[in-house]
Amino acid sequence: MTYNKQQNTQDRQWWHDAVVYQVYPRSFRDSNGDGIGDIPGITQQLPYLKDLGADVVWLCPVYRSPNDDNGYDISDYRDIMADFGTLEDFDALLAAAHDLGLKIMMDLVVNHTSDEHEWFVQSRSSRTNPYRDYYLWRDPSGYAEDGSPLPPNNWGSEFGGSAWEWDEHTGQFYLHMFSRKQPDLNWENPAVREEIFEMIRWWQDRGVDAWRVDAIGTADKPEGFPDDPYQEPGRVTTSMRFVNNRPKVHTWLNMMNRQAWSRAGALTVGELAGPTPEQGVLYTAPERQELSQIIHFQHVELGASERFGKWSLGRPALRDLKEVLDSWQRGLAGRGWNALYWDNHDQPRAVSRFGDDSPRFREASAKALATVLYLQQGTPYIYQGQELGMTNVAFEGIEDYRDLDTLNWYRTTVEERGELTAREALARVHARSRDNARTPMQWSARPQAGFSGEDPQAEPWIAVNPAYPEINVEDQREDPRSVLNYYRRLLRLRKGELRDVVREGSYEPLFPENEAVYAYRRVWEGTRLTVVVNFTSAEVALPDIAWGKRERLVLSNYEDAASTSSLRPWEARVVLGEE
Ligand code: GLC
Ligand code: CA
Repeated sequence: MTYNKQQNTQDRQWWHDAVVYQVYPRSFRDSNGDGIGDIPGITQQLPYLKDLGADVVWLCPVYRSPNDDNGYDISDYRDIMADFGTLEDFDALLAAAHDLGLKIMMDLVVNHTSDEHEWFVQSRSSRTNPYRDYYLWRDPSGYAEDGSPLPPNNWGSEFGGSAWEWDEHTGQFYLHMFSRKQPDLNWENPAVREEIFEMIRWWQDRGVDAWRVDAIGTADKPEGFPDDPYQEPGRVTTSMRFVNNRPKVHTWLNMMNRQAWSRAGALTVGELAGPTPEQGVLYTAPERQELSQIIHFQHVELGASERFGKWSLGRPALRDLKEVLDSWQRGLAGRGWNALYWDNHDQPRAVSRFGDDSPRFREASAKALATVLYLQQGTPYIYQGQELGMTNVAFEGIEDYRDLDTLNWYRTTVEERGELTAREALARVHARSRDNARTPMQWSARPQAGFSGEDPQAEPWIAVNPAYPEINVEDQREDPRSVLNYYRRLLRLRKGELRDVVREGSYEPLFPENEAVYAYRRVWEGTRLTVVVNFTSAEVALPDIAWGKRERLVLSNYEDAASTSSLRPWEARVVLGEE
């Protein structure tokens, strides 16, 4: 069972060896003590990212926005959110990054805008306004007994409730696949596409090097807007699986590539919910000129149940996790390219979810997770704080949370439907809320985790995780055994001695049925790399691996010598040898 042996047809691209670091600007670094992270704060910390081993810095949206969804609701594509600074600050960030040899990736949110964007303000002003067709307006499907208009179809939005919002003034509904303050753009309209391509070229001319393309799989809507067959009567859930990944998404990505991205040689990564590896190839095969890479959700969606969706507790079995990750390795080998990630701003912390965040195993498991993923084929994505082993947070009350998705879900589940008690719902929020990833970056053990520098008065916009005295940059920098220094070593190795085998090598899962150990082998031109990781908090037997010639341990998360018969809790071994 060896995949892609010596048959990688991909031309080498600079981003095949690159490491992307994701910054959530609101929570990364506050330079002026107002409790909100900002662009000058990111600029100050670029040397930290360089030293870690990052090549590309992805910024979640920094455009002007009323902040209904923390910047994923853009009201002006050509300006910066006042909380974060100015266009001059942005240019200074670009210049400083380029001086250090770092590239800047911006978030490209073009499935929807804010309802406060000038286009939408025009669009909703009258049915005959030239901007009317920039968005998706439809008549009611009928009227209820009390005379209220019924939505055009049964689609549910990702953030709860119907995906249609009634507009009294013009007597039609508009579509919003996310919040009602995020109306979907009409991609069928060539004028909309032209505006977007022009805006992309404008940022590229300023120096932007790369794009992360938000929710783009949702741009093409099923023709004729038919009912979503997955909906159950009386209980609206998200219609994303019905709407996502339709044919014209490919057409429009190809246009965007040719008319905008390719002109600057930009790296692009598309956020796409729901594709199979086969569809992943369609999105990322170089000859199709769509995207460089995609962020899929298959591994982070494991364990989601019919009843609670992503708000499900319970831990995915290792076998399922391996099956998903291995299928992407196999599916894209030689044909497309993977983005490798655990954490991001929409997910709980992986060390809490897939690892073991108890004090005893937190560090070992954070290192184990990094080892298993980042020696696969693809481009590593590291989310701020992941390199420290930052953990989930359990705030006491729902009023401590900020994420609209969390607040909407809690309100409907506890207050409207009474499906769960406040305590039960809060336990799910603790495990699954997006705010787990959005607490301030932990720079030091000083007040507020040093988020606002030396200013102890500053109140961050969301509370810090109380774990910061134990988990922070300042302490980990000095400690050779820290998670941070392990990440540095792992990335150095990946770009150095292991570069070719990691980039080009075949991928062979070892012991796929084993419930405790994640192991695989990569082979490239006589070099053989074996990765073996104990995915549990107990000592387990070392599976019977057929070792070859001159094999030596090049990285491990345990200091002392390895045993030949067992693996300690979360022990990770990286072994290099010859075929
Ligand atoms: C993407 C973003 C998420 C946002 C949504 C709507 O999934 O990652 O944070 O809420 O799109 O723009
Ligand atoms: Ca600030």
